[in-house]
Amino acid sequence: MEIWAHRGCSQRYPENTILSFTKAADLKDLTGIELDIQLSKDRQIVVIHDERVDRTTDGIGEVGQYTLSELKKLNINTGNKKKEKIPTIEEVIDLLEERIKEGFLLNIELKNSNLPYEGMEEKIVDLLHKRGIQKSVVYSSFSAVSLEKIRKLDSTAEIGILDRKVSDCLYKLKGGCGASVLHPYWQGMDLPVERIQEYTVRAWLSGHLYPEKPTGTRLNLKFLEKQGITGVFLNEPEVYIE
Ligand code: G3P
Ligand code: CA
Repeated sequence: MEIWAHRGCSQRYPENTILSFTKAADLKDLTGIELDIQLSKDRQIVVIHDERVDRTTDGIGEVGQYTLSELKKLNINTGNKKKEKIPTIEEVIDLLEERIKEGFLLNIELKNSNLPYEGMEEKIVDLLHKRGIQKSVVYSSFSAVSLEKIRKLDSTAEIGILDRKVSDCLYKLKGGCGASVLHPYWQGMDLPVERIQEYTVRAWLSGHLYPEKPTGTRLNLKFLEKQGITGVFLNEPEVYIE
């Protein structure tokens, strides 16, 4: 079973920050990191989950209303004196470059289904090729249209289609959105395992993010495996591979 860090180690540290990614990169047997991208007003690729900055920073408003230098003035609370900043995708690549050479993967989710960012696909594909790490990346999105664009830009890219039910993921994949792997919600496994066993199926969870306290609940990975799940995006991957 592949173990991925969802938004970095996002149960113990603030999601989508250099801190949460550093903690994930320290985990030797981790498959990779999942993160979310949006575009700033001056069209820089930044790593943040929501379309708005309100939930995770001390700012208010949409990410796309701020230039990068304005976004960099916002603080992300860590529980300590040292605050984190919204990272750019380039800063995250810089951080992970050495780990990527060792086989570490990056799942980049394009957050463009609620607020479509014109040209986001071109920008991210271009950047990853320039950095020479395109083979270490899995693209994903809830938007089939966006994934189609990625496929046109890179015929060999690994692309995961996101949806809640695995049946919806498969439906979109077969509809030709360019995806090659399925990324359903972990409780959305509504197909018999025989229907999906030829696919990579990476399941995501929601909730239990920093600063919420850990619940102590542990997933039964063997049970998930029997349902056809081949990888999981976890907020607290530390406890599964320590
Ligand atoms: O990669 C799957 C997962 O990240 C999708 O949900 O809301 O955490 O971006 P969300
Ligand atoms: Ca995500």
